[in-house]
Amino acid sequence: MQQYLPAGAPPDAQFAAMVGTGFVKPEKTVAQQIRERAKQRAGGRGAVDAGRRGFMAAIAAGWASMIFVFATFGAWFQAFMVPRAPIQPPTKVRVGKLSQFAEIGVYEDYKKDNIWIISLEEDGTQRVVALSTICTHLGCIPNWLPGAGIFKCPCHGSGYRMNGVNFEGPAPRPLERYALSVDDSGVLIVDKSRVFRKELSQWNDSNAFLPVA
Ligand code: FES
Repeated sequence: MQQYLPAGAPPDAQFAAMVGTGFVKPEKTVAQQIRERAKQRAGGRGAVDAGRRGFMAAIAAGWASMIFVFATFGAWFQAFMVPRAPIQPPTKVRVGKLSQFAEIGVYEDYKKDNIWIISLEEDGTQRVVALSTICTHLGCIPNWLPGAGIFKCPCHGSGYRMNGVNFEGPAPRPLERYALSVDDSGVLIVDKSRVFRKELSQWNDSNAFLPVA
C-alpha cells in the first residue's frame, strides 16, 4: 500500500488513503459505541417488560379461571343443597254462581283443574257437588260419556256413575268430592285441599255439597 502513496505524505493522509481503499477498517467511534449500547439496553429492558406483562396476564387469567370455577361450583352446590319450594297450583278455584248449575248434568268447564261440577238429585234433594277427575285406580283421567251417562277411564276401563260411584273395572272406590263454599259475591269456590270420600261416609258433610234452592 505504501508504494502507491506519494512520497512524504503526512500520516493522516496515508491513513485516509488506507481507509478509502478498504485496506484498513476503522474501529467504531465512541459515539457509535454509546448509541449501540443504549440500543441494546433498551431492547433488553423491553424484553424484560414484555416478559413481566405476560407473567402478570397469566396470573390474572389464572385467578379469573379459579373464580369462575368456584362460582360455578358454588351455584351448583346451592342449587343441590338448598331445598326449593315446589310450585303448587292453586287449591281454590272459582267456578261461577250457583244459578249456572241449576240444570241437572255434568259441567266439564273446569276439567283442566281436575274438577267436574255435577248437578244431581241425591237424598231427595238437588245438589251441586265438585267431583275429582282423578281415577281411584291409578290416577288416569276418565271421560264423561253423555250418551251412556257414565264416566269411563281410558286406562283400564273403570266405570263411574254420574254421582262418582264406581261400578265396573279395577277402581277400588268412588271418585272423591271436593269442598264447596260460596263467597260474598255468590260465586262457588271449590277447595281441592279438602276431599270427601263416600266409603268414609263423608259425602253428606255440609261442606261436601251445596243445595240448589
Ligand atoms: S287408572 Fe283408571 S282404570 Fe286404571
